[in-house]
This record gives sequence, structure tokens and C-alpha cells, in this order.
Amino acid sequence: MAEAFDLIWMVISFLLLIHLSSQQETGFIFNGFRQGDLYLDGVAQILPGGLLQLTNTSEQQKGHAFYRQPFEFNSSESLSFSTHFVCAMVREPGVTGGNGIAFFLSPSMDLSNADATQYLGLFNTTTNRSPSSHIFAIELDTVESAEFDDINNNHVGIDVNSLTSVDSANASYFSDKEGLNKTINLLSGDSIQVWVDYDGTVLNVSLAPLGVQKPSQSLLSRSINLSEVLQERMFVGFSAATGQLENNHYILGWSFSRSKALLQSLDISKLPQVPRPKSKNKPPLVLILLLIVLGIIILVLVGGAYLYRRNKYAEVREEWEKEYGPHRYSYKSIYKATNGFHKDGFLGKGGFGEVYKGTLPDEGDIAVKRFSHKGERGMKQFVAEIASMGRLDHRNLVPLFGYCRRKGEFLLISKYMPNGSLDQLLFDNREPSLPWSTRLMILKGIASALQYLHREATQVVLHRDIKASNVMLDTDFIGKLGDFGMARFHDHGANPTTTGAVGTVGYMAPELTSMGASTKTDVYGFGALILEVVCGRRPVEPNLPIEKQLLVKWVCDCWKKKALINARDPKLSGEMRSQIEMVLKLGLLCTNLVAESRPEMGEVVQYLEGQVSLPDFSPDSPGIGILTPVWLGASSSVMSNTSSPATESMFVSHSIEYGVGR
Ligand SMILES: *[C@@H]1O[C@H](CO)[C@@H](O)[C@H](O)[C@H]1NC(C)=O
Ligand SMILES: *[C@@H]1O[C@H](CO)[C@@H](O)[C@H](O)[C@H]1NC(C)=O
Ligand SMILES: *[C@@H]1O[C@H](CO)[C@@H](O)[C@H](O)[C@H]1NC(C)=O
Ligand SMILES: *[C@@H]1O[C@H](CO)[C@@H](O)[C@H](O)[C@H]1NC(C)=O
Ligand SMILES: *[C@@H]1O[C@H](CO)[C@@H](O)[C@H](O)[C@H]1NC(C)=O
Ligand SMILES: *[C@@H]1O[C@H](CO)[C@@H](O)[C@H](O)[C@H]1NC(C)=O
Ligand SMILES: *[C@@H]1O[C@H](CO)[C@@H](O)[C@H](O)[C@H]1NC(C)=O
Repeated sequence: MAEAFDLIWMVISFLLLIHLSSQQETGFIFNGFRQGDLYLDGVAQILPGGLLQLTNTSEQQKGHAFYRQPFEFNSSESLSFSTHFVCAMVREPGVTGGNGIAFFLSPSMDLSNADATQYLGLFNTTTNRSPSSHIFAIELDTVESAEFDDINNNHVGIDVNSLTSVDSANASYFSDKEGLNKTINLLSGDSIQVWVDYDGTVLNVSLAPLGVQKPSQSLLSRSINLSEVLQERMFVGFSAATGQLENNHYILGWSFSRSKALLQSLDISKLPQVPRPKSKNKPPLVLILLLIVLGIIILVLVGGAYLYRRNKYAEVREEWEKEYGPHRYSYKSIYKATNGFHKDGFLGKGGFGEVYKGTLPDEGDIAVKRFSHKGERGMKQFVAEIASMGRLDHRNLVPLFGYCRRKGEFLLISKYMPNGSLDQLLFDNREPSLPWSTRLMILKGIASALQYLHREATQVVLHRDIKASNVMLDTDFIGKLGDFGMARFHDHGANPTTTGAVGTVGYMAPELTSMGASTKTDVYGFGALILEVVCGRRPVEPNLPIEKQLLVKWVCDCWKKKALINARDPKLSGEMRSQIEMVLKLGLLCTNLVAESRPEMGEVVQYLEGQVSLPDFSPDSPGIGILTPVWLGASSSVMSNTSSPATESMFVSHSIEYGVGR
């Protein structure tokens, strides 16, 4: 048994040995080259990176590289061989390039007498076309030589003892992916794979760019009997040549085998790098593309930032606004002044917009009322009014600095009042409550401001929305009338009546809806304000017992019961009774149902100052304490709002009706 095992073992070893030795003899592979791997002549050299350079870009040069051992091609045996190699032809920039590379089999390594140029370092005039040359070659030819019937200057040819190819084709490959032939530019500088297979009868030649699988269809496929050409011992190698035209000819890797099946695959990743000549004039395409992309990115970013800014600070400016220039603020300045309408500066939400605190370099602290507007209707007049209001100057008017306009938005910029509005102080149960002297001072101030608006300003200005929430207080509790959003302007002498009832319920004169606004409707509003300030409650309080709900009626009823003083704010007890009673009566006088019976603002000022005593009237005088509630006859929006009169302004028309009256 042991002997039998020994025998089997010996047979296996012998077979292995034969196999190994035959493999060594029948093929080799170079994924890049080391010095000494090959026999070189001419200008051929192995570059430090492992690249085989057959020629450089000098003219009229040739170079050869051979595998050092010859292969035996006994005619009795198979003549087959297969090879796979990667080559590259790299021109200097702007140079045409030539002549080409050949893979070849030769009985001798001495080709010193062969010529360069179109002879590719393979033949000279004597040996070309001579059957005794015994040279078989696959040429990658980049020059069209008429004497050899070349098809063009970018072709692959099969050469048997002659440079006149037995077969040739345009350099191209069959793309299995796309199912069509694709041209290969041999002089592109790109690495090109070449496969040559011969099985003794058929010779196949294929090309493909690096990274592409061997095409399923060969570029050249030809029946050929090489038994007469190939000698018993043949050297395999490469030849390349330059002439008047020149370029670098490189071989990157080479695999060869006598058997197609045993041909080892090249490892693309191990192949040496092909040096690309640096362009002196033109920067590489990649760099140009990179710069273009970078430029586009920068453009997009800058453009985006510009558009963002433009949109953020966009505003509407029209030709006619030029004359109001000084009152026109840029949206950007207001945006910055309010810190981008930051919530920290939010002061409150008024009847028709939000109010923000801000700071401008010249004006100091400002209040910005910001509200939306639809359309441009009456805009021109409204802006004109604001500009006129900017010229108004009275210590009891909130200074209006100007305005800003953008699409769908309007901003009014006025002086910031640190003590807020009068209604907050009256109704928020703050301690200490406003003393009588302060209340009287405020009323006197507002009366004087109204007198100024009605009589002293160059135009009659109707405020139209007098109420405690529109009276602002400065640091010294000086009352200042603000919020001119509702005001309309009328030339002296012209009919100061406007149509379109706008105002706040409880402050609106009964005739407002039918007759429109006038100085008398303002007086009515001021009368309501007087009662509000003295009684410390709003004109209409639906939550109180029915007899107290309407302030005008309640004050009059108190008077009828000879207890007028009971109507005053309980917080004012112990204060100057006769003065309080006089002011209450003035409030009733101003809220007289009959407009003609109300005093002018000039008279109101005199009464408050005590310069003139009130006219003689009683709670039973015509029109006193009578209230035909205006809102009952007004539009439905007012109706619905009376159920919750609460604190906010309520308008018949919610949005401001710019210039309806003109
Ligand atoms: C090409 O190689 C030869 C020999 O190595 C050298 O003399 C010549 O300067 C080289 N030419 C170029 C263009 O590098
Ligand atoms: C080739 O033929 C020669 C004689 O002509 C012989 O010596 C040699 O062993 C043969 N080689 C092979 C591989 O058959
Ligand atoms: C061509 O080469 C052969 C041998 O290689 C040589 O004998 C012959 O003289 C050469 N002819 C020319 C014209 O150089
Ligand atoms: C080969 O290339 C030439 C141009 O160099 C062209 O005219 C010819 O049509 C091509 N032949 C084929 C078969 O593509
Ligand atoms: C591709 O080229 C080969 C050889 O030139 C030719 O035989 C084949 O018909 C071509 N195929 C296509 C799809 O053009
Ligand atoms: C050559 O190509 C043909 C057709 O693709 C194929 O049948 C044949 O086996 C190939 N021969 C060699 C030696 O690769
Ligand atoms: C090749 O040619 C030789 C002689 O010229 C002949 O003996 C041989 O049979 C041929 N081979 C084939 C496959 O035709």
C-alpha cells in the first residue's frame, strides 16, 4: 500500500513540476517594468515609475524592447500565442505626433539596421517585403504612408514581412455596452489596451480604452498561416519610431502566453502613471471647467445674496413721492432701526397694525406702526396727508417723522412715547392712579392740540379718532394726540364734511354716518374722552348694569339725581369737586346730540382753562345726555363689534380708506 501511495505521490509531483515549468516557459506578465526585465535598444528605456518608454519626442528615433527569452514555434507544434498589453502615445501640446508602435515577433533581437520613421524600427528598404525577414507585427500606425497603402493616420494593421499590411482597420473598438463601434484616437495620449490572439489558423486583434472589458467582437479577425513566417525560435517585443513627426511611445504593462487560456490578466491598478506634458499656453480643460463651475457658484451666491437683500429691503417708490422725499424713510433704515422688527421691540397691536419701538440715529427713539394695505387706491393722497402732518408742530401732538412704503405694507414713523397711552394708565388699575391735576392737564393739552388742528394749522385737520388709546404720554405725562391714520385734511373754507364713517364706537357722533366727519364730530369725540378721563371708564361698558352701560347717559342721570359727582372715577374722591363737576358738564356739552349745540374747540379750551364759565344748561336741555346710538344704524361690522367693545379700536371699515372723502 505504502509503495502504491509513494508512486501516486511521485506521479502527482511530476505532473505538477511539468505544469509549473511549462507555465514558466509559455508566458509572462509585467504590470509595469523593472530595470533588467527586458532587453532594450535604441532610445528605449524603463523610467523610474516602471513605465517602458520606447521613444521620447526626439525626431528620427527608434527603440526596441524584447522579452529576454525566445519562444519555440516548432511547425509540428501549435503556433498559437496570445498577448495583452497597454500602450500610450503622448504628444507635446500642439504637435501632430507620429509614427507608431508595433508588437512583433522576430527571430533576432538585432534590428540595428532597421529604419525609423515609417519603417517603425522593424524593416529597412532591403528587408521590407523580404520573406527572409521572418517578422510578424501588429502595427498601431499614426502616419498615413502612401508607399505602404496605409488607410489613414490612425489605424491598426497586420504586417507579415512587410509594412504593407495584409489587413488593417481604423483604430476603434466594439462597445458591448452601447452595441456599436467607437473610434479610438491613438494619439489622444490615453492608455489603450491591445489584445492579439492567434490559435494557429485565425488571428484576432482587439483594442479598447483602459477600464473597458475586452470587446466581444474583434477589430481584426483573419485566417492566417504563420508557419512559413515564424521560425523555431522567436523573440517577442515592441518597436516604436519617430520621424519628422514624433511623440512619446509608452508601454505600461504586458502579458504574454503561448496559450490563450493561460494568459494572465493585467492588474490595471498596478500600471505606472503616464506623464502628461504640461501645456505652456492652454490650462488643462479640468482647470478651466473647475474655474467656470467656481465662477458660477460665486455668481449664484452673490446673486442670491443680492436678491435676498433686495427682497428683504424692497419698497415701493413712485415718481410723485419725490416731493415728499424728506418724509420718506428707506425700509432698510427702519428694518435696522427696529432690529428687524424684533419681538423685543414689540409695543403692541393697535386697531390696524403692529407697533414696534426702534432707534434712528437722528430722531432717537421711534415708534413704527406697521400695517398692511391693499392696492394703491388713495395712496397718493394719504402720503400727502402724512407729509402735511409731518409739518404740524404742537406740543400736544405726537411728532410724526414720516413714512415708508413697500408692497402690501405701510409704515408710519413717529416719536416714541415712553409712558404709553392714556387708556393703559386709566384702565389698567395702576397704582398710583392718575391724580386729578394730571388728568386735567392732559385734557387741556389735547383740547389745545385739537384747537390747533381745527383752526390754527394751515389746513383744517380732522383727527376723527379721538380716544384715550390715541393719547400718548411723554416722560412728563404731557398728553400728546397721536395716530393720525384716520385724519383727513380740508382747506379752510371748503366744506369740511366727508363721507364714510370711520372711527371708534362710543366716540362717534350720532350724525357721523349720515353727515360725515366735521370739526363737530371731533368735538363729540373729545367730549367722550373727557367723560372717559373723569369717570375712569370706557364710553360703553356692556358688562355693567344696563343703566350704567352708556357713559353719557349715566353721567346725565347722575346729574338729574343731583349727584353728578358720583359719576367721577372713585379714585378721584376728595379731589376738587366743583372743577370735576364743571368738566363733567363740559363733557356732556360736547357730546350733545345736536352738532350745532356743541362748542368749538377754541371755546372748549377757554372753559377748561377757566377763562370763561360754561353756558347755562341743565340735564334736561335739548340734546344733553341723549344718545341715539350711532352704531345701531351703522353697518353690520360695527353691530357685531358692539358685543365686545373691549379695548381695541373698531372701524366701520377695517382698512384705512385713503382719501375717500376727496
Ligand atoms: C530623448 O532621449 C535621448 C536619449 O536618451 C536624449 O538624448 C534626448 O535628449 C531625448 N529627447 C527628449 C526630447 O527628451
Ligand atoms: C522543436 O524542434 C527541435 C528540433 O527541430 C527540438 O529540438 C525541440 O525540442 C522542439 N521543441 C518543442 C517544444 O517541441
Ligand atoms: C537592411 O538590414 C540588413 C540586415 O539587417 C542589412 O544587411 C542591409 O544592409 C540593410 N539595408 C540598408 C539599405 O540599410
Ligand atoms: C476610417 O477613417 C477614415 C478617416 O480617417 C474614414 O474616412 C473612413 O470612413 C473610416 N472607415 C471606417 C470603416 O470607419
Ligand atoms: C464594427 O467594426 C467591425 C470591424 O471593423 C465590423 O466588422 C462590424 O460590422 C462593425 N460593427 C458595427 C456595429 O458597426
Ligand atoms: C477569433 O475570433 C473569433 C470570432 O470572435 C472566435 O471564434 C475565435 O475563437 C477567435 N480566435 C482566437 C484565437 O481568439
Ligand atoms: C500552413 O502552411 C504549411 C506549409 O505552407 C502547411 O504545411 C500547413 O498545413 C498549413 N496549415 C494550415 C492550418 O493550413
